[in-house]
Amino acid sequence: MNATPRRILVTGASSGIGLATARQLAATGHEVVMVSRETSRGTQALSSVAADATGPGPSFLPADLSSQASIRDLSVRLHDRFSSVDALVNNAGTAATRRELTVDGIELTFATNHLAPFLLTHLLLDLLHGGRVVGTTSESHAGRLDFDNLQGERGYNFFSAYSRSKLANILFTYELARRLAGTAITANCFTPGPSATNFGRGTGGAMGLMSAAVRLIGGSPQRGARIAVRLATSPELDGASGLYFFHGKPARSKAITYDPVIAARLWAVSEELTNPGRQITQPSKEAIK
Ligand SMILES: NC(=O)c1ccc[n+]([C@@H]2O[C@H](COP(=O)([O-])OP(=O)(O)OC[C@H]3O[C@@H](n4cnc5c(N)ncnc54)[C@H](OP(=O)(O)O)[C@@H]3O)[C@@H](O)[C@H]2O)c1
Repeated sequence: MNATPRRILVTGASSGIGLATARQLAATGHEVVMVSRETSRGTQALSSVAADATGPGPSFLPADLSSQASIRDLSVRLHDRFSSVDALVNNAGTAATRRELTVDGIELTFATNHLAPFLLTHLLLDLLHGGRVVGTTSESHAGRLDFDNLQGERGYNFFSAYSRSKLANILFTYELARRLAGTAITANCFTPGPSATNFGRGTGGAMGLMSAAVRLIGGSPQRGARIAVRLATSPELDGASGLYFFHGKPARSKAITYDPVIAARLWAVSEELTNPGRQITQPSKEAIK
């Protein structure tokens, strides 16, 4: 079944899975709003997506998603330009090799991979009407969450920081789905599987080695993008919410992701750290049974 043309916002659309997602969406007639940080890479990506577009032309809005001021400014620009967005694909991601703090004083991987989708989703909720929120996570999501080391304060390594942020993506998706139950907005996430992209390119040490190995053995970014496109547009998934897709099918994520107490605690911490100015209400007791 073909999807009706939609307007879809894709973060991290200048490279890898985000760029492949933007291309596939544009090629099938959807209007893509591309977000990434680096302007020259972003405009180059915009030209390549525009060349494939069969519907409305794509646009590019630069934003540094590690900065909350930049996310808020992006939201203002989106509200000025559009009255609705049909899907938000939260895809931009990073894995900092060393513990670094953002301009907001937050650990960079946690800020970019988890807090940015959390804040951006809150700020765009009024544009999403009956829309879909799609999270990009990883099968390498952590199996536990130490709230005393959420930002690597007590010990940092890039892989723990990354897998913690990817666990946060799933906890956020499930909690968002519970809180939006009964509304027309849905929330799902997926893992693209190891993919040959620019993730970690140019870094040294263990991160450099791991990303080089993933580029050797990984699938194409187009493969992961196909799942993102389905989650954002497919009519088969109308009303489906709170799901994790692995190998393109709904699957079980690690046990911790189903713990509503941990999800609610992470939500509260994320609210404190981002102050989104809008509350997505508490889930009902029935919803968390
Ligand atoms: N590759 C894999 O094997 C794999 C596996 C599982 C999950 N994933 C997930 O897939 C997603 C996409 O990764 P990828 O593999 O496609 O990596 P990639 O090729 O490195 O692309 C990352 C994208 O994120 C953007 N980005 C990074 N930091 C940003 C920031 N602070 N503000 C705005 N944009 C920012 C980059 O934009 P700039 O051009 O501006 O830097 C780029 O467009 C990530 O969430 C990753 O965790 C990847």
